[in-house]
Amino acid sequence: MKVLGIETSCDETGVAIVGDDKTIHANLVLSQLKEHAAFGGVVPEIAARAHLDHLDTLLRAALDDAGATFDELDGVAATCGPGLIGGVMVGMMAGKAIAAAKKLPFIAVNHLEAHALTPRLTDNLAFPYLLLLVSGGHTQILVVEGVGQYKRWSTTLDDALGECFDKSAKLMGLPYPGGPNLEKLAGECPDPTAALERFDLPRPMLGRPELDFSFSGLKTAVRQHVDSMPGDTLDRADIAALACAFQSVVADVVTDRCKRAMERFTTEYAPNAPTLVVSGGVAANTALRNTLQGLTDTMNMSFIAPPLKLCSDNGAMIAWTGVERLRLGMTDTLDVAARPRWPLDPTAEARIGAGVKA
Ligand code: KG4
Ligand code: ZN
Repeated sequence: MKVLGIETSCDETGVAIVGDDKTIHANLVLSQLKEHAAFGGVVPEIAARAHLDHLDTLLRAALDDAGATFDELDGVAATCGPGLIGGVMVGMMAGKAIAAAKKLPFIAVNHLEAHALTPRLTDNLAFPYLLLLVSGGHTQILVVEGVGQYKRWSTTLDDALGECFDKSAKLMGLPYPGGPNLEKLAGECPDPTAALERFDLPRPMLGRPELDFSFSGLKTAVRQHVDSMPGDTLDRADIAALACAFQSVVADVVTDRCKRAMERFTTEYAPNAPTLVVSGGVAANTALRNTLQGLTDTMNMSFIAPPLKLCSDNGAMIAWTGVERLRLGMTDTLDVAARPRWPLDPTAEARIGAGVKA
């Protein structure tokens, strides 16, 4: 079985072809870094137009890479939400058109489910597992019970972690994309312990019994530290130290939340091989991966973080979700609508303050 996957929900145009034997026959991602850099963030209208400009070429190139034609496909999967709706429409309509023309099953993919199922493409992982989903728009802890079956245990009460990285990076004067640039600069700090002592940063939610996150206070503290730095231009060493301290408190908070969640998971689910998975764009952060690896080691749990290329948005995770759904007969009709919001666990209680990100 081979499934075509199309991803256009944010600023990456992704097209991939993945088999049910987990072979990635093609996986092409075009990042719109240049298009958005001048604006310091993703501009939805520009993103949608860029997806439109590049999708045809990428589709052709993906078929070439796979040495396949549309006729050899068994299904077409496209992100139908959540995300920037203009971009989602571009990929979804392209996917539907191919499915209609080639009489193939269509799979409407929830982008969050694609992040959640990625570790089953890269590793031999059985349900259930615990998932820390950290991206530009979402920060959640979920139990992945099966395809289409999620229990959301927590979410952010304000900013998502990726958003906090991006906004803090911007405050530090770093160019878009903020998260990876902040991580790179933090690596220049020669003395992380001194950096932590120098910058007093809050660790929101640390020690709280509920598993939720909150990051807007951390971002505000970054702003205050940047504002109080002397001179008109920011000193690179100062900013590197601040970035390093920032990553360190993020690691503390995430570790605390995950430790509690892991305890609850092993008690409530008693899985044979308890596993924590981190996925989503922020899962590319090495400091975070290392901290979570250390935590799971001390708790006798396995830890899976997909390879960096499959953490940020890509078509392979969409195609793989297509495979998972198609083999269970979970296909969609061509009148399925694009959804700017699409929670993985619709029964989860909305949190006060969580707004659209719940
Ligand atoms: O999953 P993703 O590619 O797109 C969404 O679905 O949102 O996640 C993008 C987010 C951005 O906020 C980006 O800054 C962040 O992931 N990110 C990182 C790193 N790489 C990407 N944050 C921290 N460290 C990184 N290395
Ligand atoms: Zn994503």
